[in-house]
Amino acid sequence: MQTNTQANVADSSTKSGVLQDNQFRIDAVPPGSALLVGDAAVFNVAGSFCATQAKCTHRGGPLSEGRLDGSTLTCPWHGAQFNVCTGAVLRGPATEPIKTYRVIVEGEIGRLEGQ
Ligand code: FES
Repeated sequence: MQTNTQANVADSSTKSGVLQDNQFRIDAVPPGSALLVGDAAVFNVAGSFCATQAKCTHRGGPLSEGRLDGSTLTCPWHGAQFNVCTGAVLRGPATEPIKTYRVIVEGEIGRLEGQ
């Protein structure tokens, strides 16, 4: 049987398994990990999801590639730390908080709001 990948690409319905730019499959983000979703990074903090802007406020480091310890994220470039659920700076060199987004989970799909 042929795959129907082309048909799915044309269908924007989440039921088809195709995600929109602000959506992600929750099983793609196990606890303690991160995923880039559009211009945001989604983090699984012990089973609940928090989302932030994807780039560090210091020099634009890729936050989804940082180390996550609980809700504390360490930027991979210069080691600034943020709380990914509140956006607060916990350690420099960054001084500006990061933006956070609401994450809504419906079944297997998570959706970011406020981007
Ligand atoms: S870019 Fe993140 S700490 Fe410098």
